[in-house]
Amino acid sequence: MGWGGNGAKQGKKGKKGEGNGYASLVVQSNAEVELLPVKTIPAHFSQVYEASDRDFRIIFGWEDDPHRRNFAIGQPIDMEVPVCLDLDRFVERSNGIFGKSGTGKSFLTRLLLAGTIQRQAAVNLIFDMHSEYGWEAVSEGKHFSTVKGLRQLFPGLVQIFTLDPESTQRRGVSDAQELFISFDQIEVEDLALVRGELNLSEASLENAIILRNEFGKGWINRLLMMTNEEIQEFCETKMGSKSSIMALQRKLTRLADLKYMRPSSATNYVAKILTALDDGKHVVIEFGSQSTMLAYMLATNVIARRIHASYVHKADRFLQTKNPVDRPRQLMITIEEAHRFLDPATAKQTIFGTIAREMRKYFVTLLVVDQRPSGIDNEVMSQIGTRITALLNDEKDIDAIFTGVSGGQNLRSVLAKLDSKQQALLLGHAVPMPVVVRTAPTTAHSTPRSGLPPGKKPPMTWSLKPLRRQRPIWGFKPQELGVRSQEPGARRFIPL
Ligand SMILES: Nc1ncnc2c1ncn2[C@@H]1O[C@H](COP(=O)(O)OP(=O)(O)OP(=O)(O)O)[C@@H](O)[C@H]1O
Ligand SMILES: [Mg+2]
Repeated sequence: MGWGGNGAKQGKKGKKGEGNGYASLVVQSNAEVELLPVKTIPAHFSQVYEASDRDFRIIFGWEDDPHRRNFAIGQPIDMEVPVCLDLDRFVERSNGIFGKSGTGKSFLTRLLLAGTIQRQAAVNLIFDMHSEYGWEAVSEGKHFSTVKGLRQLFPGLVQIFTLDPESTQRRGVSDAQELFISFDQIEVEDLALVRGELNLSEASLENAIILRNEFGKGWINRLLMMTNEEIQEFCETKMGSKSSIMALQRKLTRLADLKYMRPSSATNYVAKILTALDDGKHVVIEFGSQSTMLAYMLATNVIARRIHASYVHKADRFLQTKNPVDRPRQLMITIEEAHRFLDPATAKQTIFGTIAREMRKYFVTLLVVDQRPSGIDNEVMSQIGTRITALLNDEKDIDAIFTGVSGGQNLRSVLAKLDSKQQALLLGHAVPMPVVVRTAPTTAHSTPRSGLPPGKKPPMTWSLKPLRRQRPIWGFKPQELGVRSQEPGARRFIPL
């Protein structure tokens, strides 16, 4: 059976679609079919067929396929068949969930995280800025309602750490572990990331480097205790600028106000997180009231940098020993407000820019959640493997989604026409072709273990009998996508 035009054979029997992966058709099922990439425009008067449930199954596979980690994220618009993400492909690159405010990014993120936990595709480290993934989250609407968090769904597998223990306790989370950060864990690089929030000048950062070189990792504690005379003396011998160091001192006192900040700490909290991740636990870090941009960005950068350093170490050891027991568990780090860490000016310096660029080399990837993808550095955007995008209106944001995607122009209009909630365009490495899905509503009673309606289970096996039902597909003009019906000789579609 042939799919697509006259191009080279590809798919199960052909070579795997690599490249940027956006137009690759790597079938997500073990069915004996052969997919070919769309290379030609069908001739005039070619016959067009509607895609059947079976067509979807052949391409997107089954949720309970024993040979791959497929996760049903939702269904195509107007059809009742699951659309699966290949989670193994998903976690091996960095990914993004985009959409304007209120379109359901956090709900989608929770669903996907639940999928990776349930199918054991990776361990997760989640920087839960608004405390909505670990424990209950409030759902908007006329009536107050909440949805379950990951710890409630997978009690033995998820560990909550909190940077604001009082707030976490108030919310009814009883066994969250406390987490503090000490001044001696803060590098000048961390301050560079929050320079806008702290209003630090270039000169202050340069003087921070002088102080760091002189006093070592205890430099902030030392600076905060220095008198004006000591600063004057320091500047005379070490070539620092008095006014810049005094300004730096003044501004760094703001850090002492953060609830999670300590001058020093006898406990290695990051080591605790690493132990949990090594044990296969998923870690949610709650911020509680500490969710200002300053508090969030600083803690996130400090923790992620240390976790990454440990992974680099482990990956190097694995490369050396090649012993499977040394292989680090694949780690996916989730960050909200990603453009703050990945804008063109800071992406080169922050740990998140590094992780996005080095891809899966050290077994760490990102799940970035953001409402303003145009704020993310282009180089980082082009490394994002799978993009899950809810409604976006801003032209610049829409452009950013299609950075590095050949044929993306055809899909632009799709994004602007999505419903304002529960619909998203899937595009990239973890899906064989772009597709619009609707996710099932998540309610207080439902378990977001898959995007299928509660109680609906996809069949284990499927019939080879062609389904006769004719339904509209995809939610936008079928011609915009390249699927061909299995009927011999039938042709339909236009290349992406
Ligand atoms: N799958 C879903 N099931 C039920 N309700 C949903 C779903 N997706 C979105 N919603 C509704 O939409 C509201 C907004 O969703 P969500 O908080 O995920 O948006 P967001 O894109 O993360 O917004 P923000 O950018 O403000 O963080 C939710 O509170 C919920 O009421
Ligand atoms: Mg959100």
